[in-house]
Amino acid sequence: MSKLNYLFERNKNWAEKIKKQDPDFFNKLSQQQKPQYLWIGCSDSRVPPNQIVDLMPGEIFVHRNIANLVVHTDLNCLSVIQYAVEVLEVKHIIVCGHYGCGGIKAALENKEHGLIDNWLRHIKDVYRLHKQKFDNLDNGKNKVDLLCELNVIEQVQNVCNTTIVQNAWKSNKELTVHGLIYNIQDGLLKDLNINISSIEEINSLY
Ligand code: CO
Repeated sequence: MSKLNYLFERNKNWAEKIKKQDPDFFNKLSQQQKPQYLWIGCSDSRVPPNQIVDLMPGEIFVHRNIANLVVHTDLNCLSVIQYAVEVLEVKHIIVCGHYGCGGIKAALENKEHGLIDNWLRHIKDVYRLHKQKFDNLDNGKNKVDLLCELNVIEQVQNVCNTTIVQNAWKSNKELTVHGLIYNIQDGLLKDLNINISSIEEINSLY
């Protein structure tokens, strides 16, 4: 018996349930994927993209990492963006953070976490950029939640600054980059009201 029996069992039931609703579902899906959305989110197990927006397999192309970062030298993330924009031709790139993010919390601490500190440094950069906004906040939840929001805005900017997105705009492709934040406490998404659809809009972001 597999040690993952629990998962295989659940998988079988899930596939049967879907087939009951739509006998042709997996067959159709195996022919092609044509998602409209690329989702760049946190790896946090409590923020599963398809589930929180209630969409079926095939509807969202997904990249996740700790604290939903878009780092200019991260070939993994950049490859996902390139494939999504150039091959799948998604219409929307969503950067979605979440309040209470562990990665953001860790970045605000002054202790060593090992290898991951190299990754968290990118978040510390966001903090440094906006340091004055934190001056009147206490050390707790407010600080973390503000940095969670500012981090999303910064990553939206990073997405817009990639040559991939800029080239898409230059060739008049319809593509919007959005910044959202999710609240684990009530299951609701909040729009941070950043929706960028052209090169001209980038500089007016701040
Ligand atoms: Co997180």
